[in-house]
Amino acid sequence: MCGIVGYVGSRQATPILIAGLRKLEYRGYDSAGVSVWNDGTSRVVRCRGKLQGLEDKLVKEPAPGMIGIGHTRWATHGRPSDENAHPHKAGSVSVIHNGIIENHMALRQELAAAGAKFSSETDTELFAHLIDRQMQAGAPDLTTAVRKALAKVTGAYAFVVMSDKEPGTLVAAKNSSPMVVGLGDGENFIASDVTAILAETRKMIFVDEGDLITVTKSSVTITDFDGKPRHREPKTITWSAVQAEKGGFKHYMLKEIHEQPRSVADTLVGRIDLENDTALLDGVDLDVSKIKRIIFIACGTSFHASLVGEHLVEALARIPVEVDLASEFRYRDPIVGPGDLVVAVSQSGETADTMSAVREAKGKGAMVLAISNVVESSIPRLADYAFYTHAGPEIGVASTKAFTTQLIAMALLAINLGRKNGKLSRERARVLLAALTALPQKMTDIVEQGAQLQVLARRYGAAKGFLFLGRGSQHPIALEGALKLKEISYIHAEGYAAGEMKHGPIALIDENLPVVVLVPRGPHYDKAASNLAEVRARQGKVLAIATRGDTEIGNIADDVIMVPDTALELQPVLTVLPLQLLAYYVADFKGNDVDQPRNLAKSVTVE
Ligand code: F6R
Repeated sequence: MCGIVGYVGSRQATPILIAGLRKLEYRGYDSAGVSVWNDGTSRVVRCRGKLQGLEDKLVKEPAPGMIGIGHTRWATHGRPSDENAHPHKAGSVSVIHNGIIENHMALRQELAAAGAKFSSETDTELFAHLIDRQMQAGAPDLTTAVRKALAKVTGAYAFVVMSDKEPGTLVAAKNSSPMVVGLGDGENFIASDVTAILAETRKMIFVDEGDLITVTKSSVTITDFDGKPRHREPKTITWSAVQAEKGGFKHYMLKEIHEQPRSVADTLVGRIDLENDTALLDGVDLDVSKIKRIIFIACGTSFHASLVGEHLVEALARIPVEVDLASEFRYRDPIVGPGDLVVAVSQSGETADTMSAVREAKGKGAMVLAISNVVESSIPRLADYAFYTHAGPEIGVASTKAFTTQLIAMALLAINLGRKNGKLSRERARVLLAALTALPQKMTDIVEQGAQLQVLARRYGAAKGFLFLGRGSQHPIALEGALKLKEISYIHAEGYAAGEMKHGPIALIDENLPVVVLVPRGPHYDKAASNLAEVRARQGKVLAIATRGDTEIGNIADDVIMVPDTALELQPVLTVLPLQLLAYYVADFKGNDVDQPRNLAKSVTVE
């Protein structure tokens, strides 16, 4: 997501901060800024848009000084703008922040009631105010002020803080967002990513959860949030700059597959209301009594997420749902209008077909909700309401973490609507909310099975074609598994509803056709297992994706990948992961350009 760089030493900070932020550009951002201390005060310079804009601004408004913090922002709270760009300053305190402050609404109210004046829509500014208040109340030093302020904050974050009252010190804190300290000679660095400071030093301390770090040019002190000392051994980085950008993974796609537990957790932050057993949609307050029908419109992978959304909304909110390909929607003069909620799903928010479909729907009087991963992109701006996933920038062309976070957004939407119209009981909602919270850990468990999928990719990777089968909400996952495979491996693959196999595709089956069958535990298990047996009876090679603890499936499939159990409605979030890994390893085995597959673009802005 956002990028963080901090410097304290004897050189000019600004060029080091800008060079570091440049290295993080690949992660995507919408604004940038620096705060540099000099002669009693820190100067903040910020700019919406690209780093070049910030550099141009710095020519007119130079920020000299030997201690500073810099940031590239990927908007989560508040649109991309100069005012919302980081650093945020309150009194003497400048702050940069990656992540999300979960209790920002309550904090804003509390600070406003105490007389604070805000100059941005961000959650980050609130933290600057909290620390400034501690400084004013006589905290003995910046570290203590940050520690006290942290006690009021919940969420996922990496903060770096600087105060005019204690020049020469940077204080940083980490909870779930990555952070590293670079050790120099008479100078030290802080960054969200090794890449940002690799040109300056290879000696790094990897900051751990709950670390509070005080950095001066000659010292690094680490404690926990209660002030108890912690020790971290510095490591010497041997990665090349390119390897570092990919976090040590061979491709961005593999890195993004592994990032999914984190991006799902980020998408859940602040959206689970355990008091009322419901899901919160960041202020999107849909009048459920006015919704007679929901129509999802999307393309490609987002279309597959929408098909899962159909299952979720119909099951949990009992509202009729249709799913349409955005690229087809307006060519059939669709019957749509008041009473319809059109949900436009687009991770980039820029897909031309989806945009045209939204215009068509709005023109006919429907209400439009956009689900997107990019704040203030065109589709959310066109829609009446926007709800954002927090996957962070996705570099690999084949979508992975954007997809699973879309599934989370669908689940939150379905729970929210179901609770509002009373179709979802409090008890069931509670079970689902708990299951959502438990997903990241289960996802980690699956992505760590990469080695097993690598072996299977070698075994099956020479095949000329693949078939993917699933029933119920596993049908869209079969479609997505086939799409992933064909996009990056160039092997023909078809996804099919398992029950449709005998109506045609069964003719394809022989000993050369690998068939991936999605058979997690649930009401479709027996039927899907019968389909699997039909494939085996025709010498087809079966790779089953099943639920851990299933002792039967190994007897009827050639190979089995086990995924942990979860609530039935959320199973697609887990079963898609082995399919992403399978596609990745087959493509890599074939030596393909995984991140930039031929003929494909990340964002399709032509119809
Ligand atoms: C496939 C993929 C595409 C996109 C499609 C829509 O891996 O990424 O199929 O899903 O082009 O893009 P968005 O979601 O940006 O509208």
